[in-house]
Amino acid sequence: MKKAVAGAAVFSYIGGNKQLESLYDKLLQYREKGIYPFHMPGHKRQEWTMCNPYEIDITEIEGFDDLHHPEGILRQAQEEAAEIYGSSRTWFLVNGSTSGILSAVGGCVPLKGTILMARNCHKSVLNAVFHRGLRPVCVYPQISGQMGIAGSILPGDVEKALDCEPHASAVILVSPTYEGVVSDIRSIAEITRKKGIPLIVDEAHGAHFSFGGGFPSSALKEGADFVIQSLHKTLPSMTQTAVLHASVNARRDWMERVDRCVYLYQSSSPSYILLCAIQRCIQYMAADGSERMKKYAGNLERLRKYLKDLPGIRLAERDETMWRLDPSKLLISAEGVTGTKLGGLLLQNYGLQMEMCTESFVIAMTSLMDTDQGFKRLCRALKEIGCESSGLGERRVRDACLEESHRPKYRMTPYKAESSPSEWLPLEQAAGRVSAETGYLYPPGVAFIVAGEEIDDMVINRLSRYRQKCIEVQGCSRIGEGLLRVVK
Ligand SMILES: Cc1ncc(COP(=O)(O)O)c(C=O)c1O
Repeated sequence: MKKAVAGAAVFSYIGGNKQLESLYDKLLQYREKGIYPFHMPGHKRQEWTMCNPYEIDITEIEGFDDLHHPEGILRQAQEEAAEIYGSSRTWFLVNGSTSGILSAVGGCVPLKGTILMARNCHKSVLNAVFHRGLRPVCVYPQISGQMGIAGSILPGDVEKALDCEPHASAVILVSPTYEGVVSDIRSIAEITRKKGIPLIVDEAHGAHFSFGGGFPSSALKEGADFVIQSLHKTLPSMTQTAVLHASVNARRDWMERVDRCVYLYQSSSPSYILLCAIQRCIQYMAADGSERMKKYAGNLERLRKYLKDLPGIRLAERDETMWRLDPSKLLISAEGVTGTKLGGLLLQNYGLQMEMCTESFVIAMTSLMDTDQGFKRLCRALKEIGCESSGLGERRVRDACLEESHRPKYRMTPYKAESSPSEWLPLEQAAGRVSAETGYLYPPGVAFIVAGEEIDDMVINRLSRYRQKCIEVQGCSRIGEGLLRVVK
């Protein structure tokens, strides 16, 4: 095995007859391959001058403040960030948007309370619902016919749902979605304001919306009370870095409770390398961001125009089910081939790694750190693939995580379902029973069955199809054997 550091036996471990592969060596080997990342993190592995990270790797020691009670350098850094974003308060998160979502939900909804949530929310929202024993009331997105993805949540649907649920303590939506679909947050915020409850927006995939360039405007500007952004997904920052903003309209008591939760859900040994990355990213974006974003937006526009006209290639565009579409996420399909095959061709033949491959399309995630060379490589690869596949006919597999006609019946809270006595049943015998498991594909982590929902034929058919095609389902741990865990 090639050693990264001469004589560093610590990097490989020989136990019995097995030689374990060293993660560090594997990362170095991967780096050498020159594969171009059309995926997160948004820094796109571009060098950002930094010393040996071990030399500055500390946690809370004398003189460096305390993330859980910031009074010095961390407080100043977060206050500077709040000023840049125009928020009432901005928290630095070293445990990803996941910790921000857990905190915002935890602070805004009492234990066992009711939350109105978009059914296409990320699994971290469901985890928050589970932890707090909440009763989720779901509002469903529209479904786009183009590639079978979730469209926007309609403000009218939120209003209707809240009229029927006067005890809902908060609303949580995802905007943009993993695929880039944005909802009309301004109109939805007006509705929640009238009801006197907070609107939480999971903007994990839209951290770049805060820095111009003609991208959709951030939910913070549009009037949401709490907004969570993963800096690491679309901006030049390190994996796990994120921010949670409270808007200037957020009520003080909400903010105080959220503040207490932030420190429940974050490590008690925050990495100062990650905290540093957060500050540097925000300062960089504040100083040079709008220029870089303008240039990036121009490059993207040209790239999209080029891809749109390629024979054999299809690029998803905004349609009537979408309030706005973030152009930075490229949903691409090629005639005659599945998304998985397309992703494989791009990787094997052209050294381009996609963010996600579904049955029908791939997602290429771009950021302002993408290079002209990276975009050119993608254009060249898709031109060649498109030429070969042109005329083979479209493979329009509908592989949406959710379907228009599918509204599973809510029977009990996810907490109750997951903690009640349960049994394993063969899939075909599970219809009409309450699921004790939450199943989803990852990415994107949108559940097609949530614990506490009734299992119906659509869920069974979907799971059978995934099983036949050997598609990995997370959360349903024995689906490979054709078994589902149901409440007894
Ligand atoms: C829509 C959405 N929200 C939240 C998250 C969690 O973000 P993080 O990885 O920063 O914890 C993800 C992760 O991919 C996501 O896709």
